[in-house]
Order: sequence, then C-alpha cells, then structure tokens
Amino acid sequence: MVALRVSEKKKKNGLVSIINQEQTLQLDVSTEPRSDKMSIRVLRVTPEKIKEVPVTSRDVGSYSKAEALILDPSLQYIEIGAGLGGFIPAVVNSQQGYGPKPIVIDPCDYHSLYEMMNRALHLDISDQMRSRLDFHIERCKVYLSDNVVLLNMWLGDAIRRPDLVGIADIVVDNLAALLYGDPHTGFDNGFEAGRQQVEDWEKLMLKENGLLITEYDVIYKKDGVFLPGYAISQFCPQRSKRGPIRWGNTLG
Ligand SMILES: C[S@@+](CC[C@H](N)C(=O)[O-])C[C@H]1O[C@@H](n2cnc3c(N)ncnc32)[C@H](O)[C@@H]1O
Repeated sequence: MVALRVSEKKKKNGLVSIINQEQTLQLDVSTEPRSDKMSIRVLRVTPEKIKEVPVTSRDVGSYSKAEALILDPSLQYIEIGAGLGGFIPAVVNSQQGYGPKPIVIDPCDYHSLYEMMNRALHLDISDQMRSRLDFHIERCKVYLSDNVVLLNMWLGDAIRRPDLVGIADIVVDNLAALLYGDPHTGFDNGFEAGRQQVEDWEKLMLKENGLLITEYDVIYKKDGVFLPGYAISQFCPQRSKRGPIRWGNTLG
C-alpha cells in the first residue's frame, strides 16, 4: 500500500480530525478515555458547494430489505454507496473466491481511508477506539482486495460506462445515493427529481429478473418492466426458501 499524505488537526472535545491531501475525506476519532466515537465523511463534492456525506458501516443485518436474501455466489451484485457496510463482505465471504466479483460504486477514497485509519492507531486512544478502528481497517481491506471491483466514483459518473448496463442480478442502495443524491443531479436542489434520476440509473444496471434493493423497497425487473414493492419471499430465483439468512460474522 502506497503511503498517502494526510493532515491531522486537534479539535475540541478530544476529537482529532485526519484529512487526506485532496481534502475529499475526513476521519474524526475521539481521544477521550473509554470513548470509541469516530466518524468518516466524504467532503466537498461540487465546486460551488461544500457538502459532507457520512460513510457508515452498517452490518448486513441492518440492510432491512436485503435481509431475506440468500446470497448466491453465482450472481452479480452491485452496491451503490457501500461505504464500509457489511453487505459486500458478506457477498465476498459467500463466494470464497468464485463467482462474479461484486462491484462497488462509491466516491469514498478507500486507499486514503485505509491510510488515515492506520494513522489514527498511533494516536493516544482508548482500547475501545483501537478495536473499532481495527474492525474498520479489516472491512476496508475487503473493499480494497482483488475480490471486489471498486469503482471509486459517484453513481452519476459510473453510469456513463456502457459495461455496467444490464449486468446485475442484484443492485443494492442502502441509505446511499437515493438518500444523499449525486453531484450530477445537483444534490438537494430539486431533490425529488434527483431521486428519480438516481433510481433510473440504478435500474439501468439490472438484468432481466434482477432486483433493485433499497432501504425502502424492492424493485423487480420482469419482462423489461419494473415492478415496485416486491416482496423477496414471493420471488423465485433469489428468494429465501429457508427463511431469512443468518448472517453471523460477515467477515469470516
Ligand atoms: C450513509 S453511508 C451508507 C453506507 C452503507 N451502505 C451502510 O448502509 O452502512 C452512504 C454512502 O453512500 C455513498 N454515496 C452517497 N451518494 C452517492 C452517490 N451519488 N454515488 C455513489 N455513492 C454515494 C457515500 O460515499 C457513503 O459511502
């Protein structure tokens, strides 16, 4: 891993901010005793506007609509705005190196993030903070590994690639572009219109019989038509036949 330049700034309440050289990513960690408070944010996304988008790491059990999915290693998964979430590590774990690599579309600079979290380990931090950082570093390694195709960009940029059209069995957006928008849709200006655009881009990546899974809905592509409000349990190839999957330790 190439060492990247990052800067470090002490803030109030024992927080230390680590920012990458390009100033596109900020990691805040607490140096208070027993605290494990940390946050990661993607910064400055349009020339006109400073916007901060949080990068979270929800476990796969919190991906409410994806919970009933049985992961099938032969399917092509794409996650928009994976952050450091647990869904992609669960797919990688289920594949054991076989099957189409899951694709991640997220502007979060995972290389810098890896470097920044390792730098944070050298601060005077609690054991709790250290183990939280270790967990996130392990997650980050999965995203940077050869098991994942990482498209380090906004959805609005990625969708210009013709090789993404009609290739996915499952597209997942869990509290990502549908919630935060995209620089190409102007983020919060006319947010509703932007939201429809984001959803249309995400549908564009689906194969026939593919599913778009968001935190609110499951959309099923059937005969070229998109059927919203689809319950996974009614659906044939990807449905859970044995009830909801027990995810366990997704990092294996
Ligand atoms: C709140 S986090 C969610 C992470 C993960 N899915 C989870 O549930 O924990 C939002 C993520 O979406 C990404 N994101 C937001 N807007 C996006 C867009 N338009 N295109 C791609 N990624 C986006 C952010 O960079 C961030 O990593």
